[in-house]
Amino acid sequence: MTMAEGFSNGIKPEDQERNLKMSAVVVVHGGAWAIPDDLAEASVDGVKVAAREGFSVLNTGGSALDAVEAAVRALEDNTVFNAGHGAVLNAAGEVELDAFIMDGRTLATGAVSSVKNIANPVSLARAVMEKTSHIMLTSRGANLFAESIGTATVPTDTLVTEYERKEWEKHTNYVSGVMEDFNSQWKVSAVAHDTVGAVAVDSAGNVACATSTGGIRNKMVGRVGDSPIIGSGGYADNLSGAVSCTGHGESILKVTLARLILSHIEQGKSVADSSQLSLQYMGDRVCGAGGAIVVSPSGQWAATFTSERMAWAAVDRDVLWYGLDPKERLKEPLSQ
Ligand code: GLY
Repeated sequence: MTMAEGFSNGIKPEDQERNLKMSAVVVVHGGAWAIPDDLAEASVDGVKVAAREGFSVLNTGGSALDAVEAAVRALEDNTVFNAGHGAVLNAAGEVELDAFIMDGRTLATGAVSSVKNIANPVSLARAVMEKTSHIMLTSRGANLFAESIGTATVPTDTLVTEYERKEWEKHTNYVSGVMEDFNSQWKVSAVAHDTVGAVAVDSAGNVACATSTGGIRNKMVGRVGDSPIIGSGGYADNLSGAVSCTGHGESILKVTLARLILSHIEQGKSVADSSQLSLQYMGDRVCGAGGAIVVSPSGQWAATFTSERMAWAAVDRDVLWYGLDPKERLKEPLSQ
């Protein structure tokens, strides 16, 4: 298994807590998978735009929750990523979308699964959180709710790219696609996209996370992966931090990856070590590959993956950090 090094800003929590007005941080990912070279530049550009978008919300007084929603909407609107526009097709050639959002202040959570014809499922998930007594609505129920609150629907064709149609026609087998993409004991090839996500901490120390996906190409109709499941595809708690996960959903579900990472943080480990240990455990225990982004209430953050690549970006103070390949840590001034 390739273990990419996590990246942490290296600032001790106690040093950051000396600042009453803490610096806000946003971290985003565009999915952990074997990103082919022809999608590399667009993937990196896309996560940089989304991180800037999320940070501009924080910078203008928005909450961490507002920031992760804005960042994930930007990723859902970008056809290079498997979420919203650009989603993969299931075995029936349909688009079924999953999304999740969580507010670390109160543990309020909203999710949708197997929803159709929605351009920004993350905002629908937020509406489930804020306008219903439930945490998750699925399939027809999620679409009925969307209609009841006036969320616009879009034709399936507008969500599907030409690239995806061609890939779907070429790769008709779910199991081999998953093995090639996420299971590191197999030769990795570029078969499916994966998931987008964001985590943020605002200047008040509140954390939030959001995750959105079209799932895995050729999944069974009605299959739901980790992304909308609390504790697996994401979790946010002001007492420990916020996580958004990506990778092989069935593996992430088995180890409840987001909560596993936070449980290590709760035991005093750094965000980078907690992510690495948990992804390593997922690889060792269930042979699953993936990635995670994490932020702590004190502003420590990490972007870690065991897949071949993961496009990620983070804004911390005046610097935009980003990367794609293992150990890649590039940076540029935010003002650029
Ligand atoms: N990680 C996305 C999925 O497996 O559905």
